[in-house]
Amino acid sequence: MLKRSLAFFVLGLLLICSCQKTGEQPKPAEPTPAPKGPDHALTDVTTYIMGFSQCTFEDPWRINMNKEMEMAVRANRGVRLIISNGDNRNAKQVADIENYLVMGVKVLIVSPREAAPLTSAVEKAYDTGIPVIVLDRKIDSDKYSVFIGASNMEIGREAGKYMVEKLGGKGNIVEIEGILGATPTQERSQGFHEIVDKQPGMKVIYKQPGDYKRSPARQVMENALQAHDKIDAVYAHNDEMMIGAYLAAKAAGREKNMVFVGIDGQREAVKMIRDGILSATFVYPNGAKEAIDSALKILRGQKVDKQIRLSTTRVTKDEAKDYVGF
Ligand code: FRU
Repeated sequence: MLKRSLAFFVLGLLLICSCQKTGEQPKPAEPTPAPKGPDHALTDVTTYIMGFSQCTFEDPWRINMNKEMEMAVRANRGVRLIISNGDNRNAKQVADIENYLVMGVKVLIVSPREAAPLTSAVEKAYDTGIPVIVLDRKIDSDKYSVFIGASNMEIGREAGKYMVEKLGGKGNIVEIEGILGATPTQERSQGFHEIVDKQPGMKVIYKQPGDYKRSPARQVMENALQAHDKIDAVYAHNDEMMIGAYLAAKAAGREKNMVFVGIDGQREAVKMIRDGILSATFVYPNGAKEAIDSALKILRGQKVDKQIRLSTTRVTKDEAKDYVGF
């Protein structure tokens, strides 16, 4: 008797198990509700996907930006961030944005490589109804939800003023530009020239793009050194290129007394400024945290300003004592 009821019990158990396997598909787990509180007020959250189209992963500034963005997202359950690498090619970045549209991301964040080639892809996303946050470099259109970045015109002017001060209004300057179709390049140059061109004793004697990269900038500086016997200063549109230019000048034994000015506030450059090897940099914030904050606000239906301006500071030897950089 006992044996029989045990057999029925085991059979019953087996039946229950097989029903669960073959019967109705198990329902997906209920989505974890978003934590309550001022920072987590997303309602009705399943998983919100944010797509970030980064133009390149090649340099420390961009790598740091990606890291800060991932950190800013981490505290928000129910939100997922995907970051794509545009490989420093406009066509690749356009394809990345198109993929995000197919994927149906809830917010698109874009840091465009160059303005003109990226404009229609960003406009298309915006016209489809996806909120678009443009970061750091601009596009040629106002079809976006938010632009976040520091003023590159202002940075250019400040760099110009510093150069005038440092050279006492007299000297030959090499300008190493970033990627020509990127708006920071144009604005950093324009702001700088507004100031420097007013000085009769100061002249930009050599101006070439180094594409925001160290080794092309080193090559540009090698060419400049060959073409000119007297170079007093280098204005590089970012720190990577300032370091490249310094290395070229050092290899030629001509770095002493040369003024080197860069932009970004990169750790390696800041250390060289602290050591008195380079002269100054201007901190260029990447806007990662502000981008995620804006994206979350948009998802919550809150209002976001269309322009978010980030501030910049100059780092010379004095400030480099307290400033570390990224
Ligand atoms: C990185 C970078 C920075 C620069 C910014 C300008 O790719 O070149 O060094 O400040 O982009 O858009």
